[in-house]
Amino acid sequence: MSIVAPSEIERAVAALRRGELVAFPTETVYGLGADASSETAVRRIFAAKGRPADHPVIVHLGDRGMLRDWASDIPPAAQKLADRFWPGPLTLILPRAAHVLDAVTGGQPSVGLRMPDHPVALALLRAFGGGIAAPSANRFGRISPTRAEHVQSELGDAVALVLDGGPSRVGVESTIVDLSRDQPTLLRPGHIAASALGEVLGRPLAMPSTVSNTTRAPGTLASHYAPRTPLDIISVERLEETITSLRERGLRPGVLARRDLQATHSDLHEIVLPEDAAGYARELYASLRELDQRGYDRIIVEAVPDGEAWLAVRDRLRRAAHRAAEQPDSD
Ligand code: TXA
Ligand code: MG
Repeated sequence: MSIVAPSEIERAVAALRRGELVAFPTETVYGLGADASSETAVRRIFAAKGRPADHPVIVHLGDRGMLRDWASDIPPAAQKLADRFWPGPLTLILPRAAHVLDAVTGGQPSVGLRMPDHPVALALLRAFGGGIAAPSANRFGRISPTRAEHVQSELGDAVALVLDGGPSRVGVESTIVDLSRDQPTLLRPGHIAASALGEVLGRPLAMPSTVSNTTRAPGTLASHYAPRTPLDIISVERLEETITSLRERGLRPGVLARRDLQATHSDLHEIVLPEDAAGYARELYASLRELDQRGYDRIIVEAVPDGEAWLAVRDRLRRAAHRAAEQPDSD
């Protein structure tokens, strides 16, 4: 991991205090940060990303104790999850404290809070002292960045600086749990599994159908985390014939799979990802970016296994496969 000098942290803090944007590493993906208590600063995030203003952003905290400063009510379930999983890839949605800006919550009565588990993020948050509002540091609808250079190339002009903390260890965005409703509800699957959260809470989380189903009604899928190149997820059984048929039609596929296919398909551009879900998630976004940049006619992704360990990866792949013609609804 790259080491960020204390003087870089100081520069970043000074920029945040001036209301400028600072990109910083977290264990999940890189964040595009602004002072969460400055409306002007938070508005800059939306302008830089090209993101609709009614989408809420997560407030990052440097200390568990800061929960009290940002949430008006901390149910025992929230405290348990923060005690067990913070710092870590878990975002808690809680009733917001009165001072929390509408620009941060998208006008909702709740706020998303997370304490990231990355030494550079924590050093920045602690030196800054306040909350840092940060969505993933990508343009709206694009793939989240897991390396400093991804941010530099996509949003470099919009930020005062990009802190380089090396490749993100988790690689997909945090698990989001809504604790502002009657029953704790999973809003976004991530590295921390719903079953692990349920164990700590002593009861299973509610799972909206948009999270738990592997297929959703056409037209309701969000174009999100999406490469520009059309992407198809192909079953293990149909993978080889699909590649052959594309090539016979003169189309050039870039392939993301968990086994080496080059013995049977010569000159195939393939990225072979790890067979375990955590290793796969870590490299997924960087691999999609690479395939997207090479200008293939199609990105072909070998379907990943069923089961909870792969839920976050399946969710992101499904969104990436969604054609942009359908309505985008997220960030
Ligand atoms: O891992 C992560 O969570 C990364 C890193 C940078 O921390 N951040 C991230 O932020 O993925 P973003 O803005 O790209 O996604 C945040 C998600 C959005 O889907 C947003 O709708 C949801 O969190 N969210 C934030 N505040 C919320 C709230 N008050 N109620 C419901 N959803 C909320
Ligand atoms: Mg995002």
